[in-house]
Formats: sequence, structure tokens, C-alpha cells
Amino acid sequence: MRLAVLASGYGSNLQAILDAIERKEIDGRVEIVISDVEDAYALERARKHGIEGVYINPREYEKREDFDGVIAGLLQERQIDLVILAGYMRLLSPPFVKQFEGRIMNIHPSLLPAFPGLNGVKKALSYGVKVSGCTVHFVDEGLDTGPIILQEAVPVFDDDTEESLHERIHQVEHRLYPKAIQLFIEQKLRLEGRRCMRVEK
Ligand code: GAR
Repeated sequence: MRLAVLASGYGSNLQAILDAIERKEIDGRVEIVISDVEDAYALERARKHGIEGVYINPREYEKREDFDGVIAGLLQERQIDLVILAGYMRLLSPPFVKQFEGRIMNIHPSLLPAFPGLNGVKKALSYGVKVSGCTVHFVDEGLDTGPIILQEAVPVFDDDTEESLHERIHQVEHRLYPKAIQLFIEQKLRLEGRRCMRVEK
């Protein structure tokens, strides 16, 4: 399966995916990594693995749809089957979501529907929850609202800072995201309304 990763930052989830591919736990290949941030370390990680890493400057496009259109073009040229958002900090425009409907995944550092959007870890911590976690979900037109594929809880400790909690969440993300991607590749996910069920093939 031909995979594309969109990432805005450090790219530890991208790294976890690349490592899982190397261990043959994901039966696919990352064909391209695209970033909206020029010096995103995710691009560096891609290039280190001999994967095409492309920066696209959002400021060069007046409309979000135009920017997303350029990304869609690159993905189409490379016949991408699954678009993986890994710390990609932009909301995708409706035409993009429609074009890749059911083939876009995101990971979010909270137990959705709690604390969607930016700074999910910070919001959970300052709300005072005792349990947070992470969520892998399909992307729809909303903000972190698509059908949930996998979720796992992470405890919040009294002495946690945003950094320490995010670090613990990251550890779980790195396990959960490759697993969700492989389930998709094996066609073991079936949607019934909002519910994403696991089927054995
Ligand atoms: C991850 O924790 C991911 O869940 C979060 O950004 C981090 C990226 O880390 N995504 C969001 O907050 C999306 N709203 P990484 O660049 O090291 O993979």
C-alpha cells in the first residue's frame, strides 16, 4: 500500500511508522512526506530514509483549498492509498477530505471527543482530568470529529507537566498509530455510521 504522511513538526509518529515498516509490522511504503513548515524535523527524517520530503509554503496560497489542491495533486501523482496526518497542524479543506474520503487518518493526543484542536494535552491537564490518552481516527470535515479507530488511555499524575504527560502519550501513540494503519491495510476496519468496527478477514 502506498502511504503519504503530512507532518508539521518533530515527526516522532512518522518515525514510529517508518520503524514499524522496517520491522515489517506495516505492509506499506511511505512514498512522500509533506510539510507546511520548512524546517520541520519530519522532513529531515523522511530524507534520512530516502523518502521524498516536500515543503509547501501555505503563505503562497490565498485560499486553503488552493494549498490543499497542490497537496492533493502530489498525492494523486503518486497514487497514494492512505493519507496519514502525523502532527499536521492544519485543518483540511472539504474538497480535499471528499477526494480522499475514508482514506485519511489522524492521531490526536487526547481521548476524543474531549479536547479537540490545538494543545490537546495542555487543555486536558488544565481541565484537571485524571485520565487522558490518544485517539486514532478517520478524518472528516470537522475538527477531530471523524470515526474513532483506536483509543488508549494514559493516566495523569499530580506532578505532570504538559511535557511529561505528552511524553507518556507519545509512547502510546507510537504503538497505536502503526497498529491502526496496518488494520486499514489489512481491510480489517468497517464503518457502521460513526462506529468503526474491527472485522476478521
Ligand atoms: C502528537 O502528539 C499528535 O497527537 C499531535 O501532535 C503531536 C505530534 O508529534 N497532534 C495534534 O495535536 C493534532 N491536533 P510528532 O510530530 O512527534 O509526531
